[in-house]
Amino acid sequence: MRQAPYNRSMSAAEWNARLYDSSHGFVWQFGRDLLGMLAPQPEERILDVGCGTGQLAAEIARSGAGVLGIDSSAAMIAQARVKFPAISFETRDVHALAFDGEFDAVFSNAVLHWVRPPEAAAAAMIRAVRPGGRMVLEFGGHGNIPILMSAACHALSRLGVADPERLNPWYFPSIAEYSAILEANGLEVSYAQLFDRPTALEDGEQGLANWYRMFGGTFLGAIPDAAHADFHRMAAEFAAPSLWRDGHWTADYRRLRIAGHK
Ligand code: BEZ
Repeated sequence: MRQAPYNRSMSAAEWNARLYDSSHGFVWQFGRDLLGMLAPQPEERILDVGCGTGQLAAEIARSGAGVLGIDSSAAMIAQARVKFPAISFETRDVHALAFDGEFDAVFSNAVLHWVRPPEAAAAAMIRAVRPGGRMVLEFGGHGNIPILMSAACHALSRLGVADPERLNPWYFPSIAEYSAILEANGLEVSYAQLFDRPTALEDGEQGLANWYRMFGGTFLGAIPDAAHADFHRMAAEFAAPSLWRDGHWTADYRRLRIAGHK
């Protein structure tokens, strides 16, 4: 969903839809909470931007609303279609959306931190909403994952990678920054919250390495495969005092939740 060095649509191997479903179910489980805010109604048309393997689109459809799920990863969309054949899914980049007022609401969970440039994406999403329609979004906000980032940079520095911060593929805006982008594109922002959400990772000791395998492609791609085990060991040593608790890793997530009407 973005134009950055590591792109979710690059290949199924890099954006592993199976790993996403098997070990990262928390992504859509937390998104359920956001659905309460969307409050989809029967007969409404709703666009789910960055739908992944379709779990939240299916929950929206259960309300009786019509839903179109889009994601830039063909592997994710293929899996969504298998899981939920009655729902419409399309492989699309949010920047390339050509909708104009077709939707009562646009919804997006845990994906817009991948999307650059954010202005073009916001413009395309808002264009897709009918006048009076609504938008409900949540993603990583300002101050998200400081320890996960530092641990990766620490490990890469020790493995000889210069200036590893430049490999950061994410966009974590503040309330003011993202509200300004939405408002400049015609959305009246009526709700915004930035909040910590420490998130328990699955897979016990392997949880941290699986998180980097799933989401840290730019970091792992900077070193040879043979160095990956060292990366995971050094990142874990760095992160453990802050993020290892009670037999599992806890990601230091901070969310930006933001909503409004057109
Ligand atoms: C997040 O949900 O905050 C997130 C997920 C993957 C990479 C970076 C951030």
